[in-house]
Amino acid sequence: MLILGIESSCDDTAAAVLEDNVILSNVLTSQDQIHTKFGGVVPELASRKHLQAIHPVVEAALSGAGKQLTEIQLIAATRGPGLIGSLLVGYSYSKALSYVSNIPLVGVDHMAGHILSVFLGQEKPSFPYIALIVSGGTSAIYLATSYNDFQLLGRTRDDAAGEAFDKVAKLLGLPYPGGPQVAGMAAGGDPQAVHFPRAWLDENSLDFSFSGVKTAVLNHVNSCRQQGIQPNIGDICASFQEAVAEVLVEKTISAARQNHINTIVVGGGVSSNTRIRDFFTARCASEGLLFYAPEPIFCTDNAAMIALAGYHSYNQSGPVSLDEDVYSRSALG
Ligand code: KG4
Repeated sequence: MLILGIESSCDDTAAAVLEDNVILSNVLTSQDQIHTKFGGVVPELASRKHLQAIHPVVEAALSGAGKQLTEIQLIAATRGPGLIGSLLVGYSYSKALSYVSNIPLVGVDHMAGHILSVFLGQEKPSFPYIALIVSGGTSAIYLATSYNDFQLLGRTRDDAAGEAFDKVAKLLGLPYPGGPQVAGMAAGGDPQAVHFPRAWLDENSLDFSFSGVKTAVLNHVNSCRQQGIQPNIGDICASFQEAVAEVLVEKTISAARQNHINTIVVGGGVSSNTRIRDFFTARCASEGLLFYAPEPIFCTDNAAMIALAGYHSYNQSGPVSLDEDVYSRSALG
């Protein structure tokens, strides 16, 4: 089956063409340059930019795949969660395309896309697995038992991991998006230089909290300045990254142990972080667990994962009605 995937949940406009689960094209335009001067995504600007980009991006995905719209058999578009204005552009466009071209439509939950994005790579896990999804808007642990069944096991009680990276970057004067900047600075720093707190929460809790570590970074920087000491940005970034990585890895392993699962999968923008991936690889090896991570381009938002999740949703439940609307909060948590 030829599937056209469309993604516009936040600040990337993306389209991809898949033949079943094989990628024929994968196109993305990023709005980072627009939002970086504001230190974060400005929803109104994001929607306007999606409007300009959506049609050219879809055309580029079709021509990159060497396909005509008339050959597409399914349109899979992100319905939520995300910024409502951004979602509306991609989803309304997809509904219109579905209606005028008489191609069935499926609305895809963005989280389902991230949970399944690992299947876009060479090495594919088997179900069941534990999925840690960490992005700018989410930090959550799921039990995935099939392509369509995901159970939320834990989620952040405050900031998402990516949000914490972005806020720490901002307070250190680094540009948006902060995750890659913090990771870059961390490469030259000592992860043991500053001991930032790890929020384990209640015993066996699979929830996260990242607001404390972010505030601890702010307090450390202020205390350095009050003492007339220049904060060491590399050491701060490395120590912060280590604190976040340790909590993400240990809670995900705990989720696997509590549910008697031997496979761990990661997804979402933060899972492209090299230190977090290395931490997982080492700990999973020592725990006898299998670990799978998508290629970095499939960790961040993309339309290939939406096409893939839509394909499996369609195989199970068929198309959606064109009356369905977008949503800002996921039913998947
Ligand atoms: O999944 P994503 O592209 O978009 C959504 O939020 O849905 O994730 C973006 C987030 C941002 O917060 C960004 O700073 C973070 O992922 N990120 C990283 C890295 N690359 C992107 N965080 C830590 N290390 C990275 N290398």
